[in-house]
Amino acid sequence: MGRFESIIITLVVLAVAIILVFSFAFGYLRHVKITVDDASLTHMELVTTPTTALAYNLSLMLVIRNPNWAIAIKHDKPLDAANSFDGQQFDRAHVADKGDKQRAGKTVVYRLDTSSDGRRSVSLGNAGEASFRKQNATGLFEVEVKLTGKFKYTARYHKCKLEATCPLKLQLAPPGSPAVVFQKVECKLAKPENKYC
Ligand SMILES: *[C@@H]1O[C@H](CO)[C@@H](O)[C@H](O)[C@H]1NC(C)=O
Ligand SMILES: *[C@@H]1O[C@H](CO)[C@@H](O)[C@H](O)[C@H]1NC(C)=O
Repeated sequence: MGRFESIIITLVVLAVAIILVFSFAFGYLRHVKITVDDASLTHMELVTTPTTALAYNLSLMLVIRNPNWAIAIKHDKPLDAANSFDGQQFDRAHVADKGDKQRAGKTVVYRLDTSSDGRRSVSLGNAGEASFRKQNATGLFEVEVKLTGKFKYTARYHKCKLEATCPLKLQLAPPGSPAVVFQKVECKLAKPENKYC
């Protein structure tokens, strides 16, 4: 084999290797993983005058992992978290802004403190108030946190909706009461809308 042929073969092998590495790095997409690693509910009260509302203090540690080793994500819309009780949304908070990036392989921890003094009306209805009384009797409250947003993966054209629900069981622990252990919760991602997401 001449010198020329061996150079050609080396180049072809190199090209194939580069294509393989790139298609492995960018072709195979892994979805983000979202968990609530810690949460504490220090106040939860049903207010009925002047309007039905929840007075509460909740703080969460929301963890978003990007398991891709070459693909970053960039938020194309603000990432929001909505808190619901008995199916009724009672608060909403921004988690990340439009334009925020999460690099490949990175884990980002968001600390979300939400509270209300009970002046924002919530349409709990009879059923919601009944659920509140029932859960209040045990001190264990079920709150669902729903994340919604839109983002883009590096080197991808499509914008992908992000939707995840985190069902939380929160033991009310006012300041000064014994600490309660929170069991980490995995948030459930909605099915991607298409194969590019
Ligand atoms: C709840 O939050 C409010 C406002 O952020 C704060 O003033 C209050 O002390 C908090 N109460 C509890 C019980 O954590
Ligand atoms: C919730 O429970 C607390 C203490 O157990 C009680 O004082 C309060 O009245 C209850 N609230 C409702 C709406 O049942």
